Amino acid sequence: MTIITFCNIKGGCGKTTGAISFASWLERYQKKRVHLVDANQQGSSNYWLRYLDTAMTSSHITDPDKIIELLPELNEEYDFVVVDGVPEVMEINKNLLCFSDSSVSPIQPVGLDIEAFCNKTLRLIKLARKVSRGLPSVAAAYLSRASVRSSSKQKALPQLDKIPEIKLLKTIIHDRKVVGDCFTEEAVIWDFKKNKTFLDSTQSAVKEFESLSQEIYELLKEI
Ligand SMILES: Nc1ncnc2c1ncn2[C@@H]1O[C@H](COP(=O)(O)OP(=O)(O)O)[C@@H](O)[C@H]1O
Ligand SMILES: [Mg+2]
Repeated sequence: MTIITFCNIKGGCGKTTGAISFASWLERYQKKRVHLVDANQQGSSNYWLRYLDTAMTSSHITDPDKIIELLPELNEEYDFVVVDGVPEVMEINKNLLCFSDSSVSPIQPVGLDIEAFCNKTLRLIKLARKVSRGLPSVAAAYLSRASVRSSSKQKALPQLDKIPEIKLLKTIIHDRKVVGDCFTEEAVIWDFKKNKTFLDSTQSAVKEFESLSQEIYELLKEI
């Protein structure tokens, strides 16, 4: 029923982490039927999912034409299709966006990442909207992997907030060890929820991902 693509042409900004976390939040806490599409050649989210305690189905689709053929079919079958988008400006990204109700872009508030987002990812979103006559109808963005101490996020927020095509989410996802370790721990951030023995930084990470998921979910209700 709803397709959401985690999309930013910059690698390493948190697309895979965001897609896996949000997809499993929908499944665990909203009891939705969710399918994850991994559009990356490496297939890392597909691989990650195999190690998680979940019945969620996934597919690995890297051919741009197959995206056009298969996304509408998956959309019929599931409540949500969550797509882990591809780095670099590639045709597959445009096809993904043309079939997505919403795009969600994690953006690191460092160096030239905001510039790259504005010049490349935003352009892709605008192109997709022209081609598809309006999709993705909601394009959201959030600061991802922000340093807890650095003030760079305070500079980045107003820059992103003034982009008319983008809905800037309030949640900031900080760079925290527990998040970076999830894959090697064969875990997803929700596996660390409600265990009081975990460190405060772990609880903060869980809260941030909860807040992010809730914000995205609310946005999707508006579509
Ligand atoms: N909030 C975070 N804190 C710490 N490490 C993170 C965080 N988000 C992602 N990472 C790590 O950063 C790397 C890149 O993240 P990933 O989700 O794979 O980005 P992308 O899919 O955009 O390339 C991975 O090693 C991941 O574990
Ligand atoms: Mg990735």
